[in-house]
Amino acid sequence: MTIEKTLSIVKPDAVDRNLIGAIYQRFENADLKIVAAKMIHMNAEKAQGFYAEHEGKPFFADLVEFMTSGPVMVQVLEGESSITRYRELMGKTNPEDAACGTIRSDFALSLRHNSVHGSDSPESAAREVAYFFADDEIFPRS
Ligand code: TYD
Ligand code: MG
Repeated sequence: MTIEKTLSIVKPDAVDRNLIGAIYQRFENADLKIVAAKMIHMNAEKAQGFYAEHEGKPFFADLVEFMTSGPVMVQVLEGESSITRYRELMGKTNPEDAACGTIRSDFALSLRHNSVHGSDSPESAAREVAYFFADDEIFPRS
């Protein structure tokens, strides 16, 4: 058993369409436990720092603009192999490529407005969880 934590964001397009509950239900149905959560509205500096790996790419400015366009829900998901299992639950980055039944297939509007974020490796999960949450804001249940 490898219980992992991963960082999840419900992006502005999904918050705006009242999809927080529907998306949280997907997490819990998959036994991805919500062990920390908060609503925040990122400024440009916070979003740029979060997406630092993409700095310099052609979509970076639009990505930051979108992620700062409204509030998001940020949460830590805990469970067996949560990093890869949550990526599978989200589906591919572009909803047109995402498998049926995935969060992005069912809810995303476009490549940019794709409803959810999830860490892509143990290293990024550790960095991203710490980027938003102090240790005493996380309540492990496993
Ligand atoms: P990326 O980390 O590649 O995707 P993922 O969210 O699946 O880990 O990219 C970060 C976000 O940037 C992605 O969710 C949507 C946006 N994006 C674009 O707007 N255009 C693009 O061509 C790519 C690759 C990503
Ligand atoms: Mg990514």
